[in-house]
Amino acid sequence: MSSASTPSKAPSLLKMSINPPSPVPVLAIDGPTASGKGTIAQRVAQALGFHYLDSGALYRLTALAATRAGLNLDDASAVQPVAVALEVHFSHDGHILLAGQDVTEAIRTEAAGQGASRVAVHPPVRAALLELQRNFRQPPGLVADGRDMGTVVFPDAPLKVFLTASAESRAQRRYKQLIEKGIPANLSTLLQDLLERDARDQSRATAPLVPAEGAFVLDSTHLDIQQTVGQVLEQWAARR
Ligand code: DC
Repeated sequence: MSSASTPSKAPSLLKMSINPPSPVPVLAIDGPTASGKGTIAQRVAQALGFHYLDSGALYRLTALAATRAGLNLDDASAVQPVAVALEVHFSHDGHILLAGQDVTEAIRTEAAGQGASRVAVHPPVRAALLELQRNFRQPPGLVADGRDMGTVVFPDAPLKVFLTASAESRAQRRYKQLIEKGIPANLSTLLQDLLERDARDQSRATAPLVPAEGAFVLDSTHLDIQQTVGQVLEQWAARR
């Protein structure tokens, strides 16, 4: 038995060592807050039949869990264990569970976004979330959205998109979203918060928000969702 199976196994092993299987493709979409990354990335994932990673949700979850534990978000050594032990579940219907509790809405508040931006400056927190993010890379492919998808988490992604829009139009979009959800909002406060988060995300020492080398920079200020998705899919088709 064993001798019969040996010859047939040998060539395939040899082939594998010469031609390692190509990695699961990743389409990375990075950009500043409220640039529409989430919506665009989800639609692109749907169009390609790929999985979707909302990496910002992991920073939001870390901030929420740390806040609930009464920790100081600016204390890296206090927050790092929270990121390591993060018990998160993304359900297929779009709900997010933290230790079994539905926090889908709770992590979307402006306060949770500010908290996420604060915990995201800590290198040990970023390191703790790295493997968790890479585990989302499953066949047939992944669309990942965040700030450092193309620069740090998936540097070998065949397409890296840097999605941006003017600060004013991003504030306008966020304002519209909140009002539609019945959440009171103030446009000038939103713009100020957004500029503050942009500055923090862009100036931090570890994994700052910058376009990856070779990124396709897409300014969506004057584009609608469909046009933006179309441009990303066009780039993907051109590079595959
Ligand atoms: O994309 P978002 O608004 O949900 O992200 C919330 C914060 O998390 C953002 O201000 C910075 C941080 N973040 C990060 O540092 N790296 C990522 N890959 C995603 C988000």
